[in-house]
Amino acid sequence: SAAEKGGWDSYMDKEIHEDPAAVSETLLGRFDPKGNLDLDEVHIDEDVFRQVDKIIVIACGTASYAGLVAKYAIEHWVRIPVEVELAHEFRYRDPILTPRTLVVAISQSGETMDTLMALRHAREQGSRVLAICNTQGSTIPRESDAVLYTHAGPEIAVASTKAFVAQIVAAYLLGLYLAQVKGTMFRDEIRHIVTDLKAMPEKIQWVLDTQADTVSKTARQMLNAHSFIFLGRHVGYPVAMEGALKLKEIAYTFSEGFAAGELKHGPIALVDEGEPVVCIVPSPRGRDVLHSKMISSIEEVKARGAFTIAIAEEGDESVANYADVTFWRPQCPTLLSPLVDVVPLQLFAMDMSMLKQNDVDKPRNLAKSVTVE
Ligand code: G6P
Repeated sequence: SAAEKGGWDSYMDKEIHEDPAAVSETLLGRFDPKGNLDLDEVHIDEDVFRQVDKIIVIACGTASYAGLVAKYAIEHWVRIPVEVELAHEFRYRDPILTPRTLVVAISQSGETMDTLMALRHAREQGSRVLAICNTQGSTIPRESDAVLYTHAGPEIAVASTKAFVAQIVAAYLLGLYLAQVKGTMFRDEIRHIVTDLKAMPEKIQWVLDTQADTVSKTARQMLNAHSFIFLGRHVGYPVAMEGALKLKEIAYTFSEGFAAGELKHGPIALVDEGEPVVCIVPSPRGRDVLHSKMISSIEEVKARGAFTIAIAEEGDESVANYADVTFWRPQCPTLLSPLVDVVPLQLFAMDMSMLKQNDVDKPRNLAKSVTVE
């Protein structure tokens, strides 16, 4: 009913607007009075965590993209390999699992059969499984050794939105906790990142408040597009895949996310006059070359006639030359940027779906949680 949607057009609309709260709620109560990470609810010994020498994330759909984002952060912070695998692929390939492997099962519903079967397999092989889950008491956390709940609140719309940002936050907390326990980072560095994380809800809110009109306008402009290409690098790559997934799910538009560096190895052949290409542009303030590499990718597609939509940092003047439209993000550290960059993509897919008069919350052929294999 309209009342349940709290005045929003759809559950998805409501849930996107709950992105900021999903982040802040997931951060709540995870620190001791000194500001150190305290994952008390995770009943795995610190000693066991200290021994962990590899993480394998298993998940499906949106949750798998949250895992891919986390891979960049956790490998950087904890210096152990993080593999991310679709749960249904993982299970049938004889994965290498030891007692020192930490398997992280990410699931909004906690009922996805593919993920459940994969976690059972991991436990049979003697690995510990930690669930990152949004649904209290669901099957996946019940069958795991430990659980770190995302506190996004119930998610009704089939296309996952607020759960995604909460999953990234929870996985980041796990990464920072591991860094703390293993001593791979200074306490001050960890605190600094936590402070940055706590500033994210406000930045997401800024995107919702100031960018939604541009996003809607762009959706109207792009209504007849047959396909979309999404490009990203580093953490922007999983965000590109997630943006493409949203469009597939609810706008029924063929779309794919690519690593921008892969463009020249194939996808650029798809670019034709008017082809919409969404480019996630990292901060120009970064120490690395990520930004300039992404700018050359936009140039390349633009030169072939693409209609370019950039997601870029406020004040980044370099994009103006190549972007037909820009969705702005406030300044934030690169590793945290997925939390804001996904927001205009969620809005964009929702707007496209509404304009096409699709059922935004209940897209054809899809279920909120897939409890069969
Ligand atoms: C289904 C849903 C997706 C979701 C995926 C994983 O395919 O339609 O939105 O990302 O399952 O669901 P989970 O509940 O395990 O996160």
